[in-house]
Amino acid sequence: MGALLEIRDLTTTVKGEMGSYDVLSGVSFSIEQGETVGIVGESGCGKSMTALSVMGLLGKNAAVRTGQALFDGKDLVRLDERELDSVRGRMIGMIYQDALSALNPVFTVGNQLTETMRAHLDVSRAEARARATELLGRMGLADPAATMKKYPHMLSGGQRQRVMIAMALCCSPKLLIADEPTTALDVTVQAQIMRLLREEREASGMSLWLISHDIGLIAQTCDRVLVMYAGQIIEQATAEELFAHPAHPYTEMLLRSVPRVDGAREALCSIAGQVPARYGEMVGCRFAPRCPYACQACQRSQEMYTVGESHAVRCHCAAGKEAAV
Ligand SMILES: Nc1ncnc2c1ncn2[C@@H]1O[C@H](COP(=O)(O)OP(=O)(O)OP(=O)(O)O)[C@@H](O)[C@H]1O
Ligand code: SF4
Ligand SMILES: [Mg+2]
Repeated sequence: MGALLEIRDLTTTVKGEMGSYDVLSGVSFSIEQGETVGIVGESGCGKSMTALSVMGLLGKNAAVRTGQALFDGKDLVRLDERELDSVRGRMIGMIYQDALSALNPVFTVGNQLTETMRAHLDVSRAEARARATELLGRMGLADPAATMKKYPHMLSGGQRQRVMIAMALCCSPKLLIADEPTTALDVTVQAQIMRLLREEREASGMSLWLISHDIGLIAQTCDRVLVMYAGQIIEQATAEELFAHPAHPYTEMLLRSVPRVDGAREALCSIAGQVPARYGEMVGCRFAPRCPYACQACQRSQEMYTVGESHAVRCHCAAGKEAAV
């Protein structure tokens, strides 16, 4: 089966007070039809920027500098606003990290849901209202009919998040981009929402691009996982392979920083240091300042090395290559 979304060499620049710099550098990956792909990485690594670049939703101070995002044969990066509007919501649904700003404060929840459906689907107002109410109920909102009449500011953070998820699903998109979809929710509702997304995916063949800090959630949900660090993909593999054999030192440390219920890992470690500022200007491996294995060869910029079937890593050491000092 061909890729539903293929991102090639995506580089995005932002304009700051101290000049322009890249927040994404050569990001490439694909998502097949029906596949669930997860992106993990620390805060500020570029996970949301990747999704926003693909959706044409960067702010005024940011722009895609090079690269392509091919979806259903169209390069999303080159589409104008009108063409993008026909893709967003209908073909690609997005659950935004910031649910409050993604909802329109001057319209009720019901209005926003039904108008979204009527803009994209051939449905009557009554049909749209019925589907919207049903979806809100499936999201675990106790009184969906009452929620339909509310404005976003009248809802709690968790309720808004569930409305946002209903908005993203209401037109049965081919791809759902979910940026931290359950962060604002308690564990019971989180499990309920993830089950719902799984059911939706199985029923419709929808693909899911899941962005999360929560490595446990990614492990439970995804077929394939991408690890992002400082604006680059630094490792990608099937979920099974990545969690069994992490190859990049960053991935290994990231996994060690997660407590395990089976007690198989004795020590919980945190990764010393932080994601560097203006990392797009760094020369050499961007993880080097925090990496215990850094050597002189790490001062060269690192390419992706294939280390197994469908497993690639941006580290010459992990790839078993001898350092050419
Ligand atoms: N509008 C913006 N203007 C300037 N820089 C931005 C803007 N949005 C994000 N950035 C920068 O881009 C980089 C990547 O940010 P991004 O929001 O993609 O991180 P993230 O991986 O989604 O983090 P988190 O897990 O906290 O959501 C960061 O250095 C951030 O400061
Ligand atoms: S290239 Fe060097 S610094 Fe970078 S992760 Fe590999 S060993 Fe560490
Ligand atoms: Mg983010």
